[in-house]
Amino acid sequence: LVWASAERSPVDTEAGAARFDALIEADEKIEPRDWMPDGYRATVIRQMAQHAHSEVIGMQPEANWITRAPTLLRKAILMAKVQDEAGHGLYLYAATETLGVSRDELNELLHTGRQKYSSIFNYPTLSWADIGAIGWLVDGAAIVNQIVLQRTSYGPYARAMVKICKEESFHARQGYSIMMALANGTEEQRAMAQDAIDRWWWPALMMFGPHDSESPHTEQSMAWKIKRITNDDLRQMFIDQTVPQAHYLGCTIPDDDLVFNDETGHWEIGEIDWEEFWSTIKGDGRLNRERISHKVAAWDDGAWVRDAAVAYAAKRRDRLQASA
Ligand code: 3HC
Repeated sequence: LVWASAERSPVDTEAGAARFDALIEADEKIEPRDWMPDGYRATVIRQMAQHAHSEVIGMQPEANWITRAPTLLRKAILMAKVQDEAGHGLYLYAATETLGVSRDELNELLHTGRQKYSSIFNYPTLSWADIGAIGWLVDGAAIVNQIVLQRTSYGPYARAMVKICKEESFHARQGYSIMMALANGTEEQRAMAQDAIDRWWWPALMMFGPHDSESPHTEQSMAWKIKRITNDDLRQMFIDQTVPQAHYLGCTIPDDDLVFNDETGHWEIGEIDWEEFWSTIKGDGRLNRERISHKVAAWDDGAWVRDAAVAYAAKRRDRLQASA
């Protein structure tokens, strides 16, 4: 689906394209009213929408543990985190709407499988340690990606990232704090922490997308400065920062090929299971169907709330206009 921009005259197009290229070249932001290539608009809509979908679907695995949190404090922290994710989704849907696409349309695309959300949320949360691993690994990976997205060329997206990154750092820290508590706990708790790392490590690496050589979008997205660092380079940044953290916990990374390269200063990993990656994002992951059916049910159950909010806003507007 390409949301074609408004009709333009050839003169407008030539002048617009020249200004667009100059803004990108100068590392300036593209704003909603600026002329932009249809492909740029479609790519930014696609990426922001799927980012927003990820935030909203990402609430499901964690919400599963709000009623099971081991203490009132952990429950309160987890509730705050899940609420943050809803807010991140709101921010990103609002940024996407600046390009002329409605939230209803975006939800329809998600519900019918024509838009994606991050593969990571199709895995089950089997123990409390998973909530620690998600905060530390999943939000940690998201931060590596999102810190860089603060420099993306589309203005509303870059600005949305500033607040989101601040909250994500709290998400990652609370996750690592859970892992620390378990790693310093009983034998059984240490085993829980290691089991969670074993199940979440490789899916977290998949969050960064396919190898650059397999990525249909990376080259153009880098040229348009939508992406500022490629999938593989972001993944490497995440690996290099996270492996020492796992070792500090006294845990191991589930990769027999993991080795530190003294020359490059990077941790080198074994091969990612790309078959699992592609089948998950095609809809055949462990929980894809459950995640979408839960989302559709929540969307349908919440229709009356949306209708009431719209009716109230209309009444309030009419009252203000009548009294003006
Ligand atoms: N899960 C699902 N789909 C994925 C994926 C993943 N982990 N990685 C790649 N894909 C999809 C892409 O969307 C694209 O499919 P499409 O054309 O239908 O959209 C296809 O696989 C090819 O991948 P590319 O690398 O060529 O695509 P992109 O250039 O879009 O790069 C990306 C993929 C790196 C995920 C990029 O879109 C991106 O940086 N998005 C913004 C960050 C984001 O969405 N993060 C979600 C993480 S969860 C989160 O932030 C919530 C937090 O609270 C934890």
